[in-house]
Order: sequence, then structure tokens, then C-alpha cells
Amino acid sequence: MKVRLARTSDSEAVVRLGSLALAGTALATDGDLGAMVGESGGRFDVPFGRAYVLMAVQPDDAPCGMLYMTPPVRLVEDYAHLGPQKQRELAGKLALIELLAVDPEFRESGTGSALLAHAAAGLANRGGRALLTKVRDGGHSVISWYKRRGFLFPEGQERFMAIRVSGVLLGTDAVEEGFRVGVKKLQ
Ligand SMILES: CC(C)(COP(=O)(O)OP(=O)(O)OC[C@H]1O[C@@H](n2cnc3c(N)ncnc32)[C@H](O)[C@@H]1OP(=O)(O)O)[C@@H](O)C(=O)NCCC(=O)NCCS
Repeated sequence: MKVRLARTSDSEAVVRLGSLALAGTALATDGDLGAMVGESGGRFDVPFGRAYVLMAVQPDDAPCGMLYMTPPVRLVEDYAHLGPQKQRELAGKLALIELLAVDPEFRESGTGSALLAHAAAGLANRGGRALLTKVRDGGHSVISWYKRRGFLFPEGQERFMAIRVSGVLLGTDAVEEGFRVGVKKLQ
């Protein structure tokens, strides 16, 4: 399965796949992301760095999967006392998968794994140290899917995991209410 950066012409597919990833949450679709991709393609500036939208495509280039990753904005916001330059440096070492979805008829054939591998390789090439993901509370099968791909999820009530990046110990509980955060350290 080929994976490439999103193009402006992918905006409809981004909305469709975004709504699959968000099914069952209060957010029904991700129209804002579709509009952003329609305007800027798969790479655009966000607070503390850049966001990337990757598309898995069929041989005719039709999208069948999507992964959206950003700097972990909420987590880095908690470290304002370190100053904006250090915050940007920390954000550059990490990325958070905000959305990952594969069209149902293309699941179970390695598409999600290909998107994840591409995201990890891109982040590692940019000097990244760890890939984070967030999974809704109760998303046991997705958590298991990530665990089989090397992600660690903190157990127990506290749901806290510390990652040392650029000499700073970051706590992953700051990501978002109602979600569990998984971390994969990159080589
Ligand atoms: C989670 C999700 C992205 C996984 O996508 P996927 O394309 O089915 O993922 P993969 O095909 O890589 O892996 C699924 C299974 O397919 C099987 N598989 C992988 N490659 C295969 C291949 N080449 N041939 C046959 N089977 C294969 C594997 O057994 C794998 O199971 P494993 O975890 O036991 O190894 C997809 O189920 C999805 O979109 N879910 C809904 C949205 C969602 O919950 N998103 C996550 C939170 S935002």
C-alpha cells in the first residue's frame, strides 16, 4: 500500500476518513481539517510546529486511509515556563497522532500499519524521539492494535507516563480528557 502526503484534492477524502475515526464521539466530522487540506495540502503550520496529513492510496491514487499528526500542543502548552523556544524544541521531538482511519473495505490488509510506519519514519527523519497516540477511553481493540506495534499505554488510575526529551521530563497525562495516550519511542 502506497502512502503519500495529502494534496489539496484530497479534502473530501479527509472529511470522510476523519468522520470514520471520530465515529461515536461528540465530533461528528472533521470538516476543519478537510478545509485546511483543501487549502494547504498535507503539511501546514500549527502552534509549536507543523502538522502532517498522510494518505494511504490505491494503485489509481484513490485514498483509502488517513493519518493526521501534529505537535502535542496541549502537552507542550503546560511547559510555558521553559519559554517559547524550548517549547518549540520539545514539540519538534514529538508528534501526536490525532486521527487514524482506514476505509472498512481496506482494513486488515496492512494499510493502517503502513500509515503508522510512514508517520514514525518521517518523525525520526526530522529528529523526533517519540510518537504519541490518543485512543478514546474504551477503545480496547485499538489500544491492543497499537500495543502490537510497540506503543506503551500507562496502566492504572493515574494514566501518567513520563518521557524525557531534550533534558525535560514530560508527563503524558496532559494530552486530553477522555482519551488514553500511548507512546512509542523511536530509535
Ligand atoms: C485501527 C485501524 C486504523 C487499523 O487499520 P487496518 O488497516 O485494519 O490495520 P492493519 O491492516 O495494519 O492491521 C490490522 C490487522 O490486519 C492484519 N494484517 C496486517 N497486514 C496484513 C496483510 N498484509 N494481509 C492480511 N492481514 C494483514 C493483521 O493481522 C492486523 O492485526 P494484528 O494487529 O493482530 O497484527 C482501523 O481498524 C480503523 O480505521 N478503525 C476505525 C477508526 C479508529 O478506531 N481509529 C483509531 C483511533 S483515531
